[in-house]
This record gives sequence, structure tokens and C-alpha cells, in this order.
Amino acid sequence: MTFKFTRADFPDGFTFGTATSSYQIEGHAAGGAGQTHWDSFAATPGNVVRGENGALACDHYHRWEADLDLIRDAGLDAYRFSTSWARVVPEGRGQPNAQGLDYYDRLVDGMLERGIKPFATLYHWELPQPLADLGGWRNRDIANWFADFTTVIMGRIGDRVHAAAPINEPWCVAWLSHFMGHHAPGMRDIRATARAMHHVLLAHGRAIQAMRALGMSNLGAVMNFEYAAPADDSPQAARLARIYDGFYNQWFLSGVRHKRYPQIVLEGLEPHMPAGWQDDFDVIGTPVDWLGINYYTRKLIGPDDTGLWPGLTEVEGPLPKTAMEWEVYPDGLHHFLTWVNAEYADGLPIYVTENGMASYDTVQGGACDDPARIDYLNKHTDAVRRAIAEGVPVKGYFIWSLMDNYEWALGYDKRFGLIHVDFDTLERTPKASWHALQKALAP
Ligand code: FCB
Repeated sequence: MTFKFTRADFPDGFTFGTATSSYQIEGHAAGGAGQTHWDSFAATPGNVVRGENGALACDHYHRWEADLDLIRDAGLDAYRFSTSWARVVPEGRGQPNAQGLDYYDRLVDGMLERGIKPFATLYHWELPQPLADLGGWRNRDIANWFADFTTVIMGRIGDRVHAAAPINEPWCVAWLSHFMGHHAPGMRDIRATARAMHHVLLAHGRAIQAMRALGMSNLGAVMNFEYAAPADDSPQAARLARIYDGFYNQWFLSGVRHKRYPQIVLEGLEPHMPAGWQDDFDVIGTPVDWLGINYYTRKLIGPDDTGLWPGLTEVEGPLPKTAMEWEVYPDGLHHFLTWVNAEYADGLPIYVTENGMASYDTVQGGACDDPARIDYLNKHTDAVRRAIAEGVPVKGYFIWSLMDNYEWALGYDKRFGLIHVDFDTLERTPKASWHALQKALAP
């Protein structure tokens, strides 16, 4: 099976990349990194499948050179990676870890040597445990702690990264982790949620300012989006889908680009917001240079029976599903590209910073066939091409993920990679999708 596109089907200079994150691949036990809230979350029974954690993961910390070779050999132009706060500053504040700084320094040089553009994300979820002990994202001071970390790491690698974004997926940092309790720190508390929803954006703004102060440019914001559809024809379901769309898709973009929060969400969160939140929008709305869209699926939304705001629940949909049980819905990507462009981008370049799927991939006779992934990526790159044809300035597309890795609460079961990883031997086997990509991207 092959890809339906080649480079010639995209505008000149279009960036093809792949993405990973530090905790999911590096092996957090190596190199003097500090404890993170993901380590304690994973050590608590019931939070993560089989109690798995990122202590070893893909051992990328020791194997990064061969992994970067695989990015180059696929013909990809860019690599979106993240820097672990606890690897760089083990206690979250104070003394940096020289090994951690050296590691990211070498990694960035390794990309440049291979002609790969480094797209850095400062925070992809592994909060240093000492900061979690101080309240983590509930504590307003996190914006300053994060700005200080930003200055330390970008003071070292900021002169060589092609692009940078502060925080991967604010919705997951705030809502998924403080309201739904699915990710670390595993809270289910509306007051904690409201605070995290705000402080995550304050930290974003302070980090952008810290990077500008270092003279960096090409700074963006990476947010995730889920198409929210009403589960039935009732006005009630329609309204609940709008609320879901509000706290998932609108809140963060609206804060950063319009310097306000959507009223439909404030209806529920306002009583729980930290004092003075209205005065923070000049920091939150510090200008950025591009917007990044992470997109995977849609959700059908219907009523729950709690009698409490937001009063909604996810309902199983009828479309074909990936191994995550996520419906395949490429029109949603087209929707978000055109909608973000029309409502929030004001001409800014847009990147698809994550898109991909999990499947049950196995190695047989040295090969790993993943036709469903090729089909998924074909459908979603079609959606990107449609948006470009309609005038949306989409500048790049990053596949999640380079290789199978630690899929958070779902442990090592969910395989998103272009490259198969055997988690016993750590052997890498490029999948059929990797080989097909190499053909599609060949000059
Ligand atoms: C995104 C995350 C990434 C990975 C994919 C499947 O929400 O950014 O770390 O878990 O989903």
C-alpha cells in the first residue's frame, strides 16, 4: 500500500515532520532527571495499564542517533520533540542538570547535522514532582517557574531550534488531568480545573515572553481539537456539544488570540476562577508567530445524569475506530483548519503538529504491515490538501508518532509509530507506513 500524495501535491516549502515527546520515549530514569508527577501517578494502582511508566520507554536517551537517522532516512524535513523540565531542572526550580542540558544540545545538533529542522515543545506533561507538591498547575507561581525553566533550556538550545512552542495541548494539561482525572495529577475537581485552565495559558504567555527576550523567533502555540457533534437531534444535545466545543476547542485559542474566554464555558467555571484572572490577558495574548493543531478524532456528546455543569458525556459513535477506540473522522481536520484560519489565525501560518493513529501492529518475518495507518494518513492529508486549496495557509504536517511509545495511561499497548518498537528488546522495525512515506517524500 502506498500514499496517494507526493511532495509535488503540496506547496513549495511545505514541511513534513514527525513528533514525539520526552517522557514517552527517552527513558526518564537515565541521565539525572528528577521525579515527575507522571512517575507518582503511574505508581498509584488503577491509573495506568499494568502500572507502566516512562522509566525506560524507548531508551531514546541512549539511542537518539539511530532514531534521528530513521527520521532523515524517511525523507522527513522536521522533528517535533519536547524537552523534559525535570531532566533540565530536576527539582523544577534552581540548579540545572548539566547532563540534561548537554543531552538536548547534542540532540539539536544531531538534527541539524542530518538536515532535520528542530521544532521544540517546552512542556509535554512531565511536571517535576517538587512543583506538583506545591500545587502544580493550580499554583499561579507556575507561570514564573515555567518562564525560568524556559530561559534555562532555550538559553542553551534556542539559537538553533527552527521553531518552538511552550505547552503541548493545554486542554490535556488542564481538563483531562484536573477534571476527568485521566492523566497526572489525576484530579477530579472543578476548582483545580478552573485554575489550571487559566494558569496553563499564563505560563504559555510568560514562556513566549522569555523566548522573545532571548531573541528567539518562530514561536507558536500547540493545541488539540476534537470535533464535537451532538449525539442526537435534540436542542439539549446541540447545546451540550457547544459546551464541549467551548472548553475543548475554543477556550485556549480564544484566550491567546482574542484575550477573552468563551461565555459558554465561564457559565460553569467562573465561580472557581483565581482572583484577578481578567487582568492576565495581555500576558496570555502575547503575540505568537504560528498556530499548531493536533487532531485525531471527533466525539458525540449527549447528556449525563449528574445534574451538575457541564452535564455532558461522550456517546459511542458509529464510524470505524482505531485501537484507541477513536472514530476516524478526517472532515474534522478540514473543519479545524478552516475554522482556526477564519476565526483566530488572522493570517498566521498553521501547522498540523500531530495527527496519526494507533493500531495493533506486529512484526512478522522482519516486516510490520500497517495498512490502516497508511489509509488514515491518506485521508487526513487529503483533508489538509482541501484546506490548502481553499486558501488556508497550512505550512506543515507532523505525524504522531516517530515510533511506538509510552501512551500515557494506556501504557505500551497503543502503537502510534511509523516505526515498531519491541518493548522487550527495544529493537526498531520501520513499518510499511515508514517505507511508503520514504517513497512519497523522495525528491
Ligand atoms: C496527544 C498527545 C501525545 C499522544 C497522542 C496520541 O494528545 O500529545 O502525547 O498521546 O495524543
